[in-house]
Amino acid sequence: MLTTVSASAPSNIALIKYWGKSDPALNWPANDSLSMTLSRAATTTTARIRTGAATPQHHQLAFAGFEARTPNAKTIRFLEWLRGEVARFGQAEGALDLVTANTFPSSCGIASSASGFAALTVAAAGAWLGADSMEALAKKGVTEDLLATWARRGSGSACRSISGGFVLWERGDDAAHQKTRSVFSSTWWELADLIVIIDDSAKSVSSSDGHARAFSSPLMQPRLQKLPERIQKVAAAIETRDLPKLGALIEEEAIEMHEIMRTSSPRTEYFGAPTIEFLDWLRQGRAAGDLPAWFTLDAGPNPHLICLPEDSQRIKTQIQARFPGMQVIQDITGKGATLGRQHGH
Ligand code: DP6
Repeated sequence: MLTTVSASAPSNIALIKYWGKSDPALNWPANDSLSMTLSRAATTTTARIRTGAATPQHHQLAFAGFEARTPNAKTIRFLEWLRGEVARFGQAEGALDLVTANTFPSSCGIASSASGFAALTVAAAGAWLGADSMEALAKKGVTEDLLATWARRGSGSACRSISGGFVLWERGDDAAHQKTRSVFSSTWWELADLIVIIDDSAKSVSSSDGHARAFSSPLMQPRLQKLPERIQKVAAAIETRDLPKLGALIEEEAIEMHEIMRTSSPRTEYFGAPTIEFLDWLRQGRAAGDLPAWFTLDAGPNPHLICLPEDSQRIKTQIQARFPGMQVIQDITGKGATLGRQHGH
């Protein structure tokens, strides 16, 4: 019997960034990274095997509310690669009908490729194997670890969206021996993430180009050497639930990543004066004891402020009083990807 399965995968925010690839074709990162899985910012993807498709590769993808169409070449390539992997555990036959939706606006500083490829991986594996829960997938041998390995091929950071809490992605000694695992659960320490939308236009330099450019910076090799120690310190700050310590480390990390881009060829700037003005305001407020929040920044201008959940609403109100009209998305540490049966089918 054909089932329609529905997978949901959250986005994640990197506290230690994946920046630079040792093998771009395999998304083998130059360094280990560590992220916090989010809860509300997520992608939901439903998948169903379509009988009567012209060819098994004739997948259809619809963004919720829009007409179904052939997915882009990158997605088709990924699905056909994934089919080969999934086929080791069952039939994996037929084209997929996919419907996908994000809970957050596109180009808002939340990477939709992480949640998108994670949800697509879980949904496609579920539909092809006739599994309608993560437990059912695990029974067939498809563990979270394997799902992360597969999702990573679509977009590197997607591997950190399968598990919950604080997730470490280890590069391993070669591309085949990478590991992604939750090192602290979401209940160990719940933190808020306030995503401040300073500019919602699409970024000028894609992360793929950014990853490649990073190696031209003279700061890249020193970064790679000191990262293991920084990751240890971040893990220790999470273990002791020490927010000021964690905050100082993640700010140092984000600034370093952007310094690398500024000193790469060609010079790459992901944010300008409005972000600098915002971060100055944050630092001043924090020094004055008013704003207990610390920032990180991905490849774009929109800061993520990490703070305690009980301070989140008050800090959001302060941001909007100082910067009227600025959109602020509130999120929190989350549990990872889920898979279920689509109701009504
Ligand atoms: C700055 O995962 O988007 O968000 O593997 O090419 O799809 P691809 O790159 P992607 O890179 C994310 C970069 C980052 C840092 C991070 O999430 O670790």
